Amino acid sequence: METRTATPDVDLEGATLIAGALEGLDPISGSEEAVGALDRTVLEAAGFEGKTGQTITLPHADAEAVLVVGLGDEASFDSLKAASGNAIRKVKTARAVSLLALVDIDGATKAVVEGSLLGGYQFRTYKTDDEGLAAETVDVVGADEDELSGAVHAAEMTILARDWVNTPAKDQSPETFARLIATAAEGSNVEVEIWDKPRIEEEKLGALLGVAAGSDRDPRLVILEYRPEGADKHIALVGKGITFDSGGLSLKAANFMEEMKDDMSGAAAVMAATIGIARLRLPLNITAIAPLTDNAVGGDATRPGDVLRPVDGPTIEVLNTDAEGRLILADALGLAKRYEPDLTIDVATLTGAAAVALGKQVAAVFGSDTDVAAQVLDAASRAGEEFWELPLFKGYRKSIDSNVADIKNISGSRYGGAIVAAVFLAEYAGDGPWAHLDIAGPARREETSGEFVKGASGVGVRTLIELAKGMAQTG
Ligand code: BES
Ligand code: MN
Ligand code: ZN
Repeated sequence: METRTATPDVDLEGATLIAGALEGLDPISGSEEAVGALDRTVLEAAGFEGKTGQTITLPHADAEAVLVVGLGDEASFDSLKAASGNAIRKVKTARAVSLLALVDIDGATKAVVEGSLLGGYQFRTYKTDDEGLAAETVDVVGADEDELSGAVHAAEMTILARDWVNTPAKDQSPETFARLIATAAEGSNVEVEIWDKPRIEEEKLGALLGVAAGSDRDPRLVILEYRPEGADKHIALVGKGITFDSGGLSLKAANFMEEMKDDMSGAAAVMAATIGIARLRLPLNITAIAPLTDNAVGGDATRPGDVLRPVDGPTIEVLNTDAEGRLILADALGLAKRYEPDLTIDVATLTGAAAVALGKQVAAVFGSDTDVAAQVLDAASRAGEEFWELPLFKGYRKSIDSNVADIKNISGSRYGGAIVAAVFLAEYAGDGPWAHLDIAGPARREETSGEFVKGASGVGVRTLIELAKGMAQTG
């Protein structure tokens, strides 16, 4: 789908309209110049009160129909975005016209564009029917042009991540995924390096190799380097790229395995965000690292009790092969350290415990200090994504002391699992500012609602882009 700016005297013939209605405010005042007044009494007679999520379709002289969308009493950026997503799925014509941006809310254009592009997202690669959504373009009447292009870009990068995450593991091996990333990065002034298994062995990434040992499909490690001229600040991004998580020999139960093609959502987020940052030509350096591997159960799979040697930092006794994300991140964080970045951020579908703590709609952020966490929370709020801080409580560090190695990969208790995993990662993140984003909950949505469509959410992409914007500004 595509969004365009449109002038208020836009030709409405054949279009479906999405009009805003605000209780308390005049519901359709903003749209008058474009469509002529929709009669309030008609709306009322039809039982339309403008409640959140309420929609009605009215015939209209200048258009096939007008879909009127309620925003509720307290219309906000979030409700406008959600309403746009809900509305776009109801539109019955190829071309839609949105009047919602005329509502007097800060960021209205952004809300409408992200809501309709992301809410209208469909993953139809494997569908053989012809039953996709009708809407193909949305004209946003009275849109702010800069805001529109920024929002289109944010939505497109989020959709890039969604497509990768939604693709079945069968068709997206580490090798294939690495190639898809390289293709997406073409023309964006990003240097792409892909390490194959011999190179990963040469570089002594023992933890990544340990996880990869159970799969017939070889691992890869992707490094994107964005180095705009004159840039000063440097962010390192690290993303968990488990192309399928069976649990390894500590095998998952069938119902917990169903969605484990999503276990590369962190890699998808950091790679899409980096490509997005480069396309925006933001003046700061980015290094993005994604270790990619299956976690499988082949004959040479890592066994509980085995010890792995990551490239840097403590040796690891693997007691549960299903705690594999922290293993491959240990190697990737070790590599990231070499760049001496001003800030390191890793993104990972790391623990079911994070989803238990915060549910499916909120991502966890851990910071090496409260300023770093605040910086992420701030960027998330500008980006319109939901994050909440959890503590990097060092008191749990001793729960992962190992008998035979320097550290073990599980504590043995299910309590505080997201924090224990973060404390494990802290051993490899170095002494600089670092944030860990556990997106195990919100990486995937179970329900279609607002900007979300059942399946991959692309969470993190917009927050990382906003964070880079903020950091580029402060120099
Ligand atoms: N990929 C999973 C975490 C996950 C769970 C993501 C549910 C999305 C939805 C991760 O590799 C994992 O298996 N973690 C274990 C860790 C445990 C063995 C300490 C978990 O959360 O159960
Ligand atoms: Mn696992
Ligand atoms: Zn995993």
